[in-house]
Order: sequence, then structure tokens, then C-alpha cells
Amino acid sequence: MLRVDLYSGDQPFKVDRDQVLRRAWQFIGHAGMAPKAGDYLAEEIGGAPVVVVRNAEGALAGFHNVCRHRAGALVADGQGRCGEAFVCRYHGWRYALDGRLKSATDFGAAPGFDPRQYGLYPIRVESWRGLVFVNLDLDAAPLAQLLQPLADSAPLPAFPLVERRSHALGCNWKTYVENYLEGYHLPMVHPEFDEDVVVADYRVGIEGQVIFHSAPPRDASVYAGTWAWIWPNLAINTYRHGYMSSG
Ligand code: FES
Ligand SMILES: [Fe+2]
Repeated sequence: MLRVDLYSGDQPFKVDRDQVLRRAWQFIGHAGMAPKAGDYLAEEIGGAPVVVVRNAEGALAGFHNVCRHRAGALVADGQGRCGEAFVCRYHGWRYALDGRLKSATDFGAAPGFDPRQYGLYPIRVESWRGLVFVNLDLDAAPLAQLLQPLADSAPLPAFPLVERRSHALGCNWKTYVENYLEGYHLPMVHPEFDEDVVVADYRVGIEGQVIFHSAPPRDASVYAGTWAWIWPNLAINTYRHGYMSSG
């Protein structure tokens, strides 16, 4: 645990938001959620609205979901489709899927207004095994560097998306991470898991910014696998029959 004052109040909130969440790779969804050009995923990352869109070339690009005119949200949060352009829902400015301002609708000419300077602000988007990540820090190290320990020790194929569920957690996010990072509570809180693996041999190892947990399975264990936490708030749990990521 950290000092108790780091779990509440404005100052720790701002530090977590600005120094951690907005500078780290954040899992936003599965590539299969935006399969065609013009499909998008929008969400808040560290309180900042962002959108990831599949462009005409088939690549994913990301932007702040904030219009350059009066900061309207271009699209509603969630999964959706904007076709060939984002059209701001406030006054109708149109942006190409590469972020360029195509039309400042009905705005007319104005001294000093050059539409080329009013494209959407970009964010970083990188994918790994079909998992799509964003980073608001344009200078961040590549995603592949963060996930290298996982690539080395848990060679996952690119599974299709089977199901997505959301849970609102009534706690500081760091408390949830701390719980994930210890196996001490398993016998008390997860007795079925305790019966399925040899908890006495539960192991935790740190490699770079990834922490791995594992325990030897008993016969026919469905929980056999590896559980990886990735800085700062993502977990990827691999099991015999698939895997699950949560962030
Ligand atoms: S805020 Fe987007 S067009 Fe005005
Ligand atoms: Fe638990």
C-alpha cells in the first residue's frame, strides 16, 4: 500500500491522471470492434475523450474526441460508425478520418483562419494480438516495448473477441491493482480457484513493467495459465481455453 493520502483528494487524482494514466498505454478495445473503414471506438482515457477510427487504408488512427471549433465531442462514447468523415454534432465541422479539417461548415473566411491548422489533435494508437491501445503521450515508447515480456513468456495468438463486460469499481483504481497483485487472499476469497491450483506454490515475478503470477494446476484444472499485470492498470489472464484482458 501507498501512503493513505494518495488514495483520495484532488492532488493525488491529478497526479494519477496527468503523470500516470495520460502517459501510459491504455487498452481501449479489440480490433474486431472496428472492422471496417469509418468504424470507431470512443472512450475517456484518464478523463480525456478520445476516438480510434479505422481509416480507408485499413489502419487504426486516434484523435482527441474534441472539435477544434468549440470543443464539441465529435462522436458519442462507445462503438459506432462515422462513415467517411467525422461531422461535429455541435456546428457541423467535418474532419477526414486522418484528422484533417475538410470543411468548417458555413464558417466562411476569417482573417488568420487557415483550416490546415485546425486538424484534430492526434493520439498514439498501437495494437498487439488484436488488442488496441492508445496513449495520449505522443513521445511514449512503443507499445511493443512495454509488452515484450508478455510476448516472450506467454505467446498468445490473436484471439477473436468473444464477449465484453464492464464493471464499475467502487474504489480507487490503485486499490484494485494492489488486490490483483497478491495471491495471499486466494484461499479465503476464491476457494474454487484454491482447489484448482496449488496455491502453496503460487509465484510472482517482475519483468520490466509486467508482473506475472502463476500456480501449478491440478489435474484438469480450468484455471491453468498465467496472469499478467501490465503497467499501470491492465491485466491479461490466460487460461487453457482462452484469455481475458481487463483494464
Ligand atoms: S464545436 Fe464542433 S463545429 Fe462547433
Ligand atoms: Fe481476487
